[in-house]
Amino acid sequence: MGIPLQIVILGASGDLTARKLVPALLSLAGRCTEPFRLVGVARRPLSHEAFRAQLRAELPEEDRQAFDGFAERVHYLQGDAGEDLTPLGHQLEALPGGAGAGRLFYLALKPGLFLPAMENLARGGLLAQENGAPWRRVVIEKPFGHDLASARALNRTLQSLLREDQIFRIDHYLGKETVQNLFAFRFNNTIFEPLWNRQHIELVQITVAEELGVERGRAGYYDAVGAMRDMVQNHMLQLLALIAMEPPSSLRPETIRDQKVAVLKSLRIPSGDACVRGRYTAGNVGGQAVQGYLEEEGVPAGSTTETFVALRAELENWRWAGVPFLLRHGKRLPKRFTEVKVQFRVPPIQLSDAPGTEVLADGLACALRPNQLTLSLQPRETVSLGFGVKAPGPGMTMVPAQLAFDYKDRFGGQTAPAYERLLLDAMNGDPTLFLRNDEVEAAWAAVDAIPGQPVRDYAAGTWGPPEADRLFHGCEGGWSHG
Ligand SMILES: NC(=O)c1ccc[n+]([C@@H]2O[C@H](COP(=O)([O-])OP(=O)(O)OC[C@H]3O[C@@H](n4cnc5c(N)ncnc54)[C@H](OP(=O)(O)O)[C@@H]3O)[C@@H](O)[C@H]2O)c1
Repeated sequence: MGIPLQIVILGASGDLTARKLVPALLSLAGRCTEPFRLVGVARRPLSHEAFRAQLRAELPEEDRQAFDGFAERVHYLQGDAGEDLTPLGHQLEALPGGAGAGRLFYLALKPGLFLPAMENLARGGLLAQENGAPWRRVVIEKPFGHDLASARALNRTLQSLLREDQIFRIDHYLGKETVQNLFAFRFNNTIFEPLWNRQHIELVQITVAEELGVERGRAGYYDAVGAMRDMVQNHMLQLLALIAMEPPSSLRPETIRDQKVAVLKSLRIPSGDACVRGRYTAGNVGGQAVQGYLEEEGVPAGSTTETFVALRAELENWRWAGVPFLLRHGKRLPKRFTEVKVQFRVPPIQLSDAPGTEVLADGLACALRPNQLTLSLQPRETVSLGFGVKAPGPGMTMVPAQLAFDYKDRFGGQTAPAYERLLLDAMNGDPTLFLRNDEVEAAWAAVDAIPGQPVRDYAAGTWGPPEADRLFHGCEGGWSHG
């Protein structure tokens, strides 16, 4: 039997709380042996009942009945995270467990409020863990800073208020089953790991493609951030770290995180030409006419923010020297998918009559690369391995074939949403799937070092500016279309 648990969400009337945190907590409430209390804090005046009704209304119809059983454990406090938070302390004292409860504070606030909120929690004595007080932890949402200098400043202040093991920097990609599978798949299947290096792998490409443009009401946030900081610096570099890290010697959180940091520290974008930035103009996505980024509501006139990034990166380490890692993310692309594709080298001699060739856009005839391992993360959750087989008939003619695995076929639709897993880990004090201070800083250092590039237009519904295709050289092939 654990100690009682109190969860506090600062910024509790917002989108993240309604769409992600409450559904995840509701699901966990049904499974936790120790019932926890949830206290929501925001500035608007709400009674406990009005707050509960608001959360209930935001839930899908099928979850509302379960929420009714949970509602009496949900509380509200009108408060400003930028001001004195001692009333929060009083409210928590009065709840079951009081000061003896473990407390998880979730900062679902805009980034400018992270530090004031932390300082006010500390001033109110809410973070103190000394003198036998039970654990106190803080979950911090992305974006964690907007460059290396701001991330460092944020880390320094956090560490003056808390120990590193109390800080849980979230990247929700790490809560996804298929992202955890990148690690599990590599290190638990001995047939792949011996090939996982520059001798056998020609190229790795990672795509996060979105059909959506900037979401309603998010233009202000997005325009200040752009594709590189919103997606590449965090989620995509995490995918890259998992694909490229050395095997850790154990599953201990620090051992795993040490290896991820080592990858991020070896990341280089060799020249200005190796990065392409783009911005969508009006076009057609999925048969629907859509407007350009500059016409979207809330985007400032004259914005130079990118909605597309493609990179050709390298890892300066023994395992990967010379292997290009191509990363691409964009909004208003023809199709939504997230995928990692590992392309193996062609055999040194072609022992077939017709090894198969493909003619690339620039007229080059290249041997087919049949050996590709594709890990699809969304919308499909699949692993597939391409290989060549002999076509029936005389002679030795090779044609491509595939072995495929689908999570749904094997496990049904049973995978828990990312936030549920991450909240559970934070409650249990397991930081493995959260980012350490040096990990965030290494990712920012890599992104900050990328030379500035002009923003090139691409029509919505296309695969981005044509310059992105030129990041593939010679017979390396081209971008996946999912
Ligand atoms: N939404 C997502 O899917 C998502 C995904 C990843 C990361 N995030 C991150 O999560 C954070 C929250 O995002 P969101 O989309 O939920 O934002 P949001 O919809 O704008 O909600 C912000 C919340 O903060 C409250 N708030 C604002 N100022 C406050 C203050 N001084 N003291 C206490 N509460 C205050 C607001 O309510 P009052 O106005 O009543 O105070 C509201 O409840 C941001 O850092 C965002 O980058 C969000």
